[in-house]
Amino acid sequence: MTINLAQFCDQIQPQILGIHPYVPGKPVSDLQRELGLTRISKLASNENPLGASPSVIAAITTELSEIARYPDGGAYILKDALSKFLNLPMSQITVGNGSNEMLELVARVFAGPGDEIVYSQYGFAVYPLCAQIVGATGVEVPAKLYGHDLTAMLEAITERTKVVFIANPNNPTGTVFGKDEWETFISQVPKKVVVVLDEAYLEYCDYADYPKGSDYLSSYPNLLVSRTFSKAYGLAALRVGYMVGCAEIIQYINQVREPFNVNHYAQVGAAAAIQDQDFVQKSVALNKSGMNQILDALNRFKLEYIPSSGNFIAVHFGEKASVINQKLLQSGVIIRPLGGYGMPETLRVSIGSEGENQHFIDALGVILNELEAN
Ligand SMILES: Cc1ncc(COP(=O)(O)O)c(C=O)c1O
Repeated sequence: MTINLAQFCDQIQPQILGIHPYVPGKPVSDLQRELGLTRISKLASNENPLGASPSVIAAITTELSEIARYPDGGAYILKDALSKFLNLPMSQITVGNGSNEMLELVARVFAGPGDEIVYSQYGFAVYPLCAQIVGATGVEVPAKLYGHDLTAMLEAITERTKVVFIANPNNPTGTVFGKDEWETFISQVPKKVVVVLDEAYLEYCDYADYPKGSDYLSSYPNLLVSRTFSKAYGLAALRVGYMVGCAEIIQYINQVREPFNVNHYAQVGAAAAIQDQDFVQKSVALNKSGMNQILDALNRFKLEYIPSSGNFIAVHFGEKASVINQKLLQSGVIIRPLGGYGMPETLRVSIGSEGENQHFIDALGVILNELEAN
């Protein structure tokens, strides 16, 4: 029996009909199936080329016999580890199925039809989706030099604004803002407007003037800070992130959270990952050398790029960006086109292992030569 789609559309919430789903990086298995390639370097999702800490693998392996049990809905072991690491009470911490879930939960708690959610042009693609899912109006503020224009974002706040999403560093542009800009902004945001500072790439950022969100929690109860285990901790497959803020707001987020939103292996894995800060430092060091390796090549190729404080870099390729992306795929290199972000001439490359970076550099060199010859 087939569904009469037109009839069904009437039943669907109007805000859901217009949603364009988030487009993730192409999985390695897809490219393997499509082109039968054996050497594939995935530099499309800002993952950790080092993998995860061996202590995470050991902690998860030890717990395999628990697979038939529901996880702890309160995520005690993970929140306890975070509490000690962040020096914050557990009541100020909540955890999610990736930090992505936390972002959506904030929108669900605070916004609905008639409300506004403010974010930046070239901001993380999930922010407009969060607004759409809850039927709120997304307000995109033009970027300044590919980064957040915090002055303009402040001006965009109206009586109807419920949430402001900000990423520092930002993905996909890698831009970062400093303490002055941040403090001027957060001190002027109306107290009833919730500001979500998304620090998914915090560990990679070595900007000396970086305003760490957790340092501002005691002054700004309307501030929520989200972080993830998917990047520098190398746990993207587990889907686990966390959010910190004032206990009252965290309590409301817990009220809309699914009872078992973070699975047992994500909880034990993330708790073990926090204990291994040496691994995080190794990941950060590898990212730094990999970034230099790729920047050297981009400079040699005379390509323009946006200086990045994350584990990725957005490179301007001009009108041949799409062709270059296709040719890179044929060479087994998966990177991320940014057409969905309104940057059709820009491609984002995640920093991988030395070998993966070299694969990208060699393939790109061949492609650029070929294009120049034609
Ligand atoms: C800026 C930013 N925030 C949040 C996320 C979500 O990460 P996760 O859901 O894996 O924690 C990402 C992922 O790419 C990101 O780039």
